[in-house]
Amino acid sequence: MGQNLTVIVLAAGGGTRMKSKTMKVLHRVGGRSMIGHVLNAVRALEPERVVAVVGHQREQVGTHIQELVPECVLAVQEEQRGTGDAVRVAIEAVGEVSGTVIVATGDTPLLRGESLRAFAEEHEAAQRAVSVLSAIVDDSFGYGRIVRDDDGDVVAIVEEKDATPEQREIPEISSGILAFDAAFLVEALPQLGNDNAKGEYYLTDTVQIARDAGLTVGAHAIDDSWQTAGANDREELAALGRELNRRIVSDWMRDGVSVMDPATTWIDSDVVLAPDVTILPGTQLLGATVVAEDAVIGPDTTLKDCEIGAGARVVRTHGELAVVGDEASVGPYAYLRPGTRLGIRGKVGTFVETKNSEIGDGAKVPHLSYVGDAEIGEGTNIGAGTIFANYDGVKKHRTKVGKHAKTASNTTFVAPVEIGDGAGTGAGTVVRRDVPPGALAVSSGPQRNLPGWAQTKRAGTAQAEAAAAASHDDGSGFGDSEDSGAES
Ligand code: UD1
Ligand code: CA
Repeated sequence: MGQNLTVIVLAAGGGTRMKSKTMKVLHRVGGRSMIGHVLNAVRALEPERVVAVVGHQREQVGTHIQELVPECVLAVQEEQRGTGDAVRVAIEAVGEVSGTVIVATGDTPLLRGESLRAFAEEHEAAQRAVSVLSAIVDDSFGYGRIVRDDDGDVVAIVEEKDATPEQREIPEISSGILAFDAAFLVEALPQLGNDNAKGEYYLTDTVQIARDAGLTVGAHAIDDSWQTAGANDREELAALGRELNRRIVSDWMRDGVSVMDPATTWIDSDVVLAPDVTILPGTQLLGATVVAEDAVIGPDTTLKDCEIGAGARVVRTHGELAVVGDEASVGPYAYLRPGTRLGIRGKVGTFVETKNSEIGDGAKVPHLSYVGDAEIGEGTNIGAGTIFANYDGVKKHRTKVGKHAKTASNTTFVAPVEIGDGAGTGAGTVVRRDVPPGALAVSSGPQRNLPGWAQTKRAGTAQAEAAAAASHDDGSGFGDSEDSGAES
């Protein structure tokens, strides 16, 4: 397969029923555009040429297609005058075709390469002028029906609007995917008329043209009609997305991934999971996320384009473009922003946000902290409520904390600043200057207690009453001897 095979993907129509400023084929399911899925299936055929017919929003659609398949030829159909006209435009764009031509549409995201291949092989083996990939569906409304004669041979495809009431009862429909002998197609296209209910040049009329010329025509019914189902509106898009996800999740389970609740687990097409990964309910693994073996993800976690190490644990977390080391621990309630790299056995704990930061092997940021533009050395522990103040209002700056440092609760690192190996901070320290290795930085002033403040400044309140009741005398606090912390 491949040699002398041209694939034409139709994507010129507007998709008005999506009611969207985004073209239908660019709507996404499973982390890819619908046309992205189709092009992926087409690529599996290794065709000699791929032509995409674009029209509505041709800039966006064309750019997107060429990002995915750079060698794809774009053919512009100025006016959407029907699928037959679209194919004519495609053939004009490549000049000449020979061998086999497959026509597909850009809105069937569940289509698989192997199905296209089987269809093309059958078409070629039977030496037909035209083959149609058909499907038996419960609700055939809107589709072209496959009309067969008494011998079961295909005689025509009749569109919904042109069908007789009897023809509308036919459950076998055209998927819109057809295979042609190129020479026949080139001859048949100019014979298409538009004298029909929609006033369009129907590609499907080529079937009747072939029959009338005494050529071989056939339909190959696909067992799995999801593969040829298109999305015309948001409801159908969601249904296709759900089914695609069901298939992806099943495939991963078959490959050794534990998924506690497939119904609330969403995995994009390009995600890669190792055996013995466990996914807990309410988890979305998106984009190019990769998870290594024995990692446990979830519940309630979204990871986009993340890399999670073996045996890591990621709980109730939102992460994007982050790398988590082997056996590291993240969450619950962590936010890993782009550029986060957490080392082996590192920890990003509860209510911690990280961005563009390297957190070394075994280093821990356990509670209530913001780590932005930082480098934290191995084995260092960052106290609760620490803020890496990376932004001076104009520019972002970096903070570097060395190895095995121990910083206390509520430290603020005012970047740029560097803290040496084995250094530390006192609680509530605002670090504005570098701290040498082994030093303890303390910035808050000595504590002063103002005796009886509540009783005098908050007289008559519950606070004052509680203070008075707890005091040795009636209103002057604990007495002078207890107040030594003040100015010593
Ligand atoms: C088409 C088929 C129908 C089939 C159905 C499957 C024809 C005449 N009918 O009907 O037999 O059951 O698909 O979904 O082929 N397009 C263009 N340029 C055009 C017209 C359409 O590029 O001028 C593209 C559309 O963007 C779309 C595809 O061709 O991707 C199908 O067009 P659409 O108008 O949706 O055809 P249907 O009426 O669904
Ligand atoms: Ca359609």
